[in-house]
Amino acid sequence: MMQQLYFETEKLVISSTLIHECAELQGICDSWDDKMEIEGSVFEPDYIQKCFSQGDLPPIKNANKSPYRLLSIKLKDTQELIGFSDLYFGYPTSKTAWISIFMIHPSYRKNGYAQEAIKMIADECNKQGFSKMGIAVYLKNWRALRFWTQAGFNNVVGIKGDKDYSPDAYARIELLMC
Ligand SMILES: CC(C)(COP(=O)(O)OP(=O)(O)OC[C@H]1O[C@@H](n2cnc3c(N)ncnc32)[C@H](O)[C@@H]1OP(=O)(O)O)[C@@H](O)C(=O)NCCC(=O)NCCS
Repeated sequence: MMQQLYFETEKLVISSTLIHECAELQGICDSWDDKMEIEGSVFEPDYIQKCFSQGDLPPIKNANKSPYRLLSIKLKDTQELIGFSDLYFGYPTSKTAWISIFMIHPSYRKNGYAQEAIKMIADECNKQGFSKMGIAVYLKNWRALRFWTQAGFNNVVGIKGDKDYSPDAYARIELLMC
């Protein structure tokens, strides 16, 4: 598997995050202003630094950083950092690549960049032999549910979390693109 990832789409560059990009990516995390209402928690102040140095690893016994990648999403024309994603190759099955976070800064949303980025990431995963991709989305995250289902993440493989609705209850739906 490649160490550093680099892909170009029509309007974007998607590449392995470099250390000097971490502070700006943390700023993008902090721009998600309704995260507390949607997910019941905010990002830790060192979230990106931890993803960069240790990875955001899946809950499996032998999880380790080597199949984990943090990816920066930039505009090709201006090199502005507009978002990020991550990937863990080989979870929950050996042929699946799992995304634990995908985010576009609010100022750059509704331009089609998110769909363009995920299409390229999915194509590259496919080329590397990962025929499925997965994501867990909070059920209160309407925007993201629209986004992922439009992107082809249409197979429901699980629902985890609180069982009954209340304003302070949270659950995630796990979706696969196959
Ligand atoms: C989920 C998320 C990545 C989607 O990003 P986005 O930029 O809004 O997604 P898209 O580029 O696909 O655009 C979304 C909407 O804009 C529309 N759009 C796309 N290109 C457009 C353009 N050029 N002009 C106008 N509208 C456009 C799309 O049709 C879509 O609208 P629809 O849902 O009514 O069909 C973003 O909302 C986000 O970062 N949210 C916070 C983090 C989060 O929830 N992440 C997911 C965790 S699982």
